[in-house]
Amino acid sequence: MQLLWNSMWVLCTVVKWTMAEEECGGLLTRDRGLLHTPGFPRPFQVPLKCRWVIDSSMQPTQPVSIVVYLTQLFVTTGLTFTEYAYYEPDSPNYQLEPKILHTVTEENVAITTRVATNTSFLVVEFNMDRLEGNHLRASDGLLEVYGLNITYIMHLGTGKIPDYSCTAAKCSMLGHCYASLDYSSFWCACFPGFTGPNCKQGPLCRRDMDVCRNGATC
Ligand SMILES: *[C@@H]1O[C@H](CO)[C@@H](O)[C@H](O)[C@H]1NC(C)=O
Ligand SMILES: *[C@@H]1O[C@H](CO)[C@@H](O)[C@H](O)[C@H]1NC(C)=O
Repeated sequence: MQLLWNSMWVLCTVVKWTMAEEECGGLLTRDRGLLHTPGFPRPFQVPLKCRWVIDSSMQPTQPVSIVVYLTQLFVTTGLTFTEYAYYEPDSPNYQLEPKILHTVTEENVAITTRVATNTSFLVVEFNMDRLEGNHLRASDGLLEVYGLNITYIMHLGTGKIPDYSCTAAKCSMLGHCYASLDYSSFWCACFPGFTGPNCKQGPLCRRDMDVCRNGATC
């Protein structure tokens, strides 16, 4: 009997896990959370369509601002952020005052660190038909990374919005940008051999060997 229970539990866990892997998008009403592609950082099945609706209208204190931090964003197309005064997921007639705030492109993917709104609804849409040619590709550590894993937080008026956040580019493409457990502060976890807040210090910077000229620091 015990064995049967155990195997059923394992089966359920596996099924739940597999389902969770397929999930993409949803209604987000908690004051902070994570948006990620299925199985991040692994490649996902395409075509993929996701829509996350971040809804702050139920928060006890108003006004609220919603900030999405682009911590691990490796797609160069297909991702848009739209604010709405009101958004009813299933009724286009009740989706009021849409305004596109940001569309990720090859040009801005390395520059933009966050997207913020003061309206109650922020809708994040991701559509991708093929993986090839649509991803940031840099050093070895980022060659096999697909999709996105980004955080959001609802600021309830009182708390200060952190002025430092990171992205792959801010970590010099030599590390991953992670949020702290409560998603309110950020840091670069550098790939082996690289150190420093932006992972700029590499294996070639040895103290006993001054590779830099003209007073520059490595
Ligand atoms: C939201 O409101 C705050 C204070 O009212 C303002 O400083 C900030 O610029 C606004 N942000 C956006 C994205 O409109
Ligand atoms: C996704 O992001 C969160 C917050 O930065 C981080 O804690 C988590 O490790 C990330 N997941 C992966 C698979 O990198």
